[in-house]
Amino acid sequence: MRKKVIAGNWKMNMKPLQAEEYMREFIELIKNAQSEVIICAPYIDLERLVEITKKTNIKIGAQNMHWEETGAYTGEVSGSMLKSIGVEYVIIGHSERRQYFAETDETVNKKVKAALNNELKPIVCVGETLEQKEKGITNQVITNQTKLALEGLTQEQVENIIIAYEPIWAIGTGKTATSEDANNCIISIREEISKIYGQNIASRVIIQYGGSVKASNAQELFTTSDIDGALVGGASLKPEEFEKIVNYDK
Ligand code: 13P
Repeated sequence: MRKKVIAGNWKMNMKPLQAEEYMREFIELIKNAQSEVIICAPYIDLERLVEITKKTNIKIGAQNMHWEETGAYTGEVSGSMLKSIGVEYVIIGHSERRQYFAETDETVNKKVKAALNNELKPIVCVGETLEQKEKGITNQVITNQTKLALEGLTQEQVENIIIAYEPIWAIGTGKTATSEDANNCIISIREEISKIYGQNIASRVIIQYGGSVKASNAQELFTTSDIDGALVGGASLKPEEFEKIVNYDK
């Protein structure tokens, strides 16, 4: 049985003091949660959040990283830097990075490898645009993104990644994929992993859904056969709202 993994992606929100205030409240609200809980915060918040969550059930993630370890890459942060402050997860290939910051399948693959080499768990995002959905090529797009993101990984490494299926048309729009459609897309992604790494490994990989997840649709999404949790944007910005998603089973 796969566990549920529920991650908040704060995106470009929350200054350090706001982050600290949020976290002190959130720790109390979710201390009995059954799911694994991750908060992916801006770089400037990470060290403080790692410190505050040390003896709790909350893990901390970054939202991006560079694939090189060190060097002349102004403005970038490496996986070994994240690891050095106790960060455990990192989102890679979010559609906003693909759309606005020239992230490609190739850079996603390099970052996934660099994250794993630094013992960080990547949360790899895949998802189709509205245009691709309307053309009927969703499955082709998301299975291809998955294949390219995982290229060259060992079986052992694949077990340490999380995939987040985030249809781009559902992000921040209030439009959620139906639980049936989201589940079917996730089944296709799992089948793609199975083709490369075998059924056994594929059945163990955590695959989340993301895109307008909120308290009112969390339970329906999470009780499908293959959706193993969520990557939550807007609804993760308020502790009392995110708590309802994390505690969807209470
Ligand atoms: P929303 O939950 O705000 O739609 O964002 C989803 C997302 O992009 C999470 O990474």
